[in-house]
Amino acid sequence: MTLTALNLQAPVDTNHTAAGFPTQRLRRLRRTENLRRMVRETTLSADDFIYPLFVVHGTNVRREIASMPGNFHWSVDKLAAEAESIASLGIPAVILFGLPASKDEWGSEDYADDGIVQEAARAIKQAVPDLVVVTDVCLCEYTSHGHCGIVRHGDVQNDETLEYYQRVAVSHAAAGADIVAPSGMMDGQVGAIRQALDLNGFKNTPILAYAAKFASAFYGPFREAADSPPQFGNRKAYQMDPANAREALREVELDLAEGADMVMIKPALPYLDIIRQTRDRFDAPIAAYNVSGEYAMVKAAGRNGWIDEQKVTLELLTGIKRAGADIILSYHAKDVARWLKPI
Ligand code: PBG
Repeated sequence: MTLTALNLQAPVDTNHTAAGFPTQRLRRLRRTENLRRMVRETTLSADDFIYPLFVVHGTNVRREIASMPGNFHWSVDKLAAEAESIASLGIPAVILFGLPASKDEWGSEDYADDGIVQEAARAIKQAVPDLVVVTDVCLCEYTSHGHCGIVRHGDVQNDETLEYYQRVAVSHAAAGADIVAPSGMMDGQVGAIRQALDLNGFKNTPILAYAAKFASAFYGPFREAADSPPQFGNRKAYQMDPANAREALREVELDLAEGADMVMIKPALPYLDIIRQTRDRFDAPIAAYNVSGEYAMVKAAGRNGWIDEQKVTLELLTGIKRAGADIILSYHAKDVARWLKPI
């Protein structure tokens, strides 16, 4: 029997018992891919995502959105196949945004039985009953002035708008929406919607509150896709000032007190600190919206060959999850689910 010669030192070298280098070498666990996989703290999965869909009137429409390549305007007749493709990738949920046939001051199509989102929700639930349908509860895509609430004397009226959100939420739930997501940033919107759902037979319909939604320039491509830019002024009198973190935590606290089941931070990348602070302070599920402008930048740079789109996308989504998000709304969701799928 041969023994391996050991290099033992007696007495033990105190350099090797002290904390830190050379005792500690963090590179030991980075040496191979399998070692790295074993100690990975954050992993992405198709389970994490909600995929946004833009729905339009008409038939046989599948029109690519110029500033959001890979995302489309869909007519209702095309949704069954698209819903099946999303579900087959393992993505559990979609969020619907609708472009109405016509707009008026009160956003009437938003709470019409045959409104575009109502028709879309029905079509998806019929085709793929298990796919979770989330609807965005807001007026901006439906109003002629493009604001998220009722406008009087050039001002968005908070309390009057709440009644409209109640109608929209109940109408979406009646059409089959599994979760409603109020995004208008009116004070009291979560409580008003909770009350309306409870009184109208939808006490089990959860609310995903856009709790801390910032007045962001990153919504640009979405507003083009959803035809929803404000026709005068801006949204700074209701969406949050990007400079404020403590106020974001107050928004989250109030929405949870009003009955929100989940809270959302939006946008995601410039607000990772808000996601982290929300995670540290509250135990409710947190969603982060990786918004249209964040998506468009990655796509544009990728197409120019300036960045590796796949690697950058996976890195930034991992960052959002590491910051504390449980759920990510992202236009990258289908691509990511494909990349993560074992072949
Ligand atoms: C409002 C709403 C907006 C987005 C989601 N819901 C636009 C806005 O507040 O102007 C933006 C999402 C994105 O940029 O991807 N209905």
